[in-house]
Amino acid sequence: MFHSITFFVLFFILFARAQSPTYSATYLPSDAPYQSEQGQAGYNNCTTGYDQSSQCQNAYLNTVQDWCVWAPPEPGPGSVIGNTERIEVAWCMQSGYGTRLIPDGTITGAHLVVTPDYVQITGVGDLTNINIPVGDGGGELDPHGADGNGNPIGGLVFSSAFGALEEIHEWTNFVSADMFCFRACKPSANAPTMCQHIYDVMGCDWNMPANYSPGVFEECLGDSAQPMGVYGTSTFYQGGPSTPAAHPIPPSSSCTSYSTISNGQGVLVGEITSAAGTSTSTSTSSAAILTVPPVGWQRLAIIYSTIVIGFSLGVMVVL
Ligand SMILES: *[C@@H]1O[C@H](CO)[C@@H](O)[C@H](O)[C@H]1NC(C)=O
Repeated sequence: MFHSITFFVLFFILFARAQSPTYSATYLPSDAPYQSEQGQAGYNNCTTGYDQSSQCQNAYLNTVQDWCVWAPPEPGPGSVIGNTERIEVAWCMQSGYGTRLIPDGTITGAHLVVTPDYVQITGVGDLTNINIPVGDGGGELDPHGADGNGNPIGGLVFSSAFGALEEIHEWTNFVSADMFCFRACKPSANAPTMCQHIYDVMGCDWNMPANYSPGVFEECLGDSAQPMGVYGTSTFYQGGPSTPAAHPIPPSSSCTSYSTISNGQGVLVGEITSAAGTSTSTSTSSAAILTVPPVGWQRLAIIYSTIVIGFSLGVMVVL
């Protein structure tokens, strides 16, 4: 019975993946509605400038000086990404989008690469400055989520990396207390594969092999990485018996380096003007562990054991 369920689930995943993507709407920041999805915590009709209590859920991935990540709206130990993935807000390097700003000095290494298939930022820093709790292994954000409305719900991503500013429908962002990676895929039939979001416990290094070195701020052209999880003719699924190694870091060229990146706005860490209120939720989530890759099978083993033990106990009670 377990086999047929597994088979059904796999079949469903494969079938769902084979469908070409359809999008209900495409926006620019200038014509985005108040909210783009039901149940959205923030909004998409953002102002200009910046605001450290903004609930704007528009993120940008333009240049190494001009990008955003998703992070919690409120500080506190309950704000681990696994608990807040549905309500993350945009934290950006530059003012002008009506979002929050990443305080200068937070990011200690950033590498932007533009390839034929995507624009991607990878790096390190002290992301506790943007409300990620100390020690949080983080999680994965993407426009699909459990109900198709995205994590965060209603989060929109825009980029000018491929020409005029446009909405990017396929993207994936991992963020933890000390590391981040964000890939936005150029609109094309390849985009769902190149921005695959199902490997949510595999972390940055495995999903987005790239340079994460501290002390370096650079912007390069590059080759596209091999699609995450695809190894020649076989595809790995999280929770499978053995976890394949990360794909190699693709070559890059034409790099421009900067001594640092900053917005110069003098924003201080903890300058949160919104009404604070620390969530103490203890719910667990599918988004987990950012930097330790081979945990999929362990999670599956735990779930399986729980089912078996639960079932056995049930039988004992009945007998
Ligand atoms: C966004 O839309 C809401 C609802 O219509 C409105 O209250 C708010 O003022 C708008 N914000 C901006 C910046 O236009």
